Amino acid sequence: MSLRFTHPHIASAEMDAVRRAIESGHTWGDGPFTLSAAEQLTEMLDAAHVAIVTSGTDAAELAGIVADFGPGDEVIVPSYQFPSAGLSVALRGATPVFVDVDPRTGNIDVSHAEAAVTPNTRAITFVNYAGVTADTKAIRRIADAHDLIVIEDNCHSLGGTANGEPMGRDSDLVLHSFHSSKNISCGEGGALVVNNRRFVERTEIAREKGTNRHRFLRGEVDRYTWVDLGSNYLPSDVQGAMLDAQLLDYDIIQDRRMSAWASLNDGIADWANDSGVDIMDAGPGNHHTAHLFYVLMPDQTQQRALLDHLGARGVPSATHYQPLHSAEAGERFGRTVGSCENATSFASRILRLPIHTNLSAADIELIVDSVTSFEVTN
Ligand SMILES: Cc1ncc(COP(=O)(O)O)c(C=O)c1O
Repeated sequence: MSLRFTHPHIASAEMDAVRRAIESGHTWGDGPFTLSAAEQLTEMLDAAHVAIVTSGTDAAELAGIVADFGPGDEVIVPSYQFPSAGLSVALRGATPVFVDVDPRTGNIDVSHAEAAVTPNTRAITFVNYAGVTADTKAIRRIADAHDLIVIEDNCHSLGGTANGEPMGRDSDLVLHSFHSSKNISCGEGGALVVNNRRFVERTEIAREKGTNRHRFLRGEVDRYTWVDLGSNYLPSDVQGAMLDAQLLDYDIIQDRRMSAWASLNDGIADWANDSGVDIMDAGPGNHHTAHLFYVLMPDQTQQRALLDHLGARGVPSATHYQPLHSAEAGERFGRTVGSCENATSFASRILRLPIHTNLSAADIELIVDSVTSFEVTN
């Protein structure tokens, strides 16, 4: 089989779990597998509440409802981010305010975030790109000083640590994706992790079509009814079964990904050093999650040339986000503070290499040989 850019892991209990979910007849939302997956995540993340949802994008949309964003509100969003970060704000009629990023990591630049705060700002959102931590302590300080909600996109970082602490602990609401490209996956899926207890009740309601069904299921009311905004964010229990089985294999998945990441790094480190290419770096004391393996080329010409060079050798590679401040919808629905030139530069230099649990030693050798046979020209 040809070398694939990403490939979902199949966990040891996954096939059996899916079969049992289907045979049980309980294929709708919040069956035993989804509840078990939520329990696993709650324990792993030490969260006040975990809402398993249908995607990372839906987790962001649900967060926008729970945070009660509305017209006139502004929400700070790093320009180098996945579109759902801006979309979830615009869907509430609020304004995403795009700010620049750190040129080394692509993560939000906290000084730009602070400079963008106005009396209308309601929240700061950010992503730990590629599983590399943003400056979460500084973000929390700014948020507390201005009474803002913090929404952290941890879609790349389940299980990552920053300065010895698990990532995703300092924010009020934390987003996860279980799309098939993610370390833990169930085809399409996600989670909204609630750390701040004041958002728990609203999360339960908004996830269940704006009803108080959760209270009915707990026997607190004798029937449930429409009480607030929301939608149906429940995945089927067949997806819950995939997710539950994958979470049970978390350590196996991470070990394989970390080992592939280390082999790629070892294989191309000298070439990168000699060629003026930067390899992604979590920074001292931090552990990324081996979700991505990327290099930063000197410029866009070299980025495109390496992409073509690898393609010709059967190695798929990919650039990543187009900065939101210059996207068609970003210009229409958002406002930009500053030039966001680091976001533009990062997008024009990044190239991602294949990384997943199915990479063989021969695959890694092919990737390394193909990358190191590329000559960077200045
Ligand atoms: C950082 C980040 N946030 C959010 C999402 C959206 O997740 P989903 O595809 O599950 O909607 C993605 C998707 O790749 C992502 O990379």
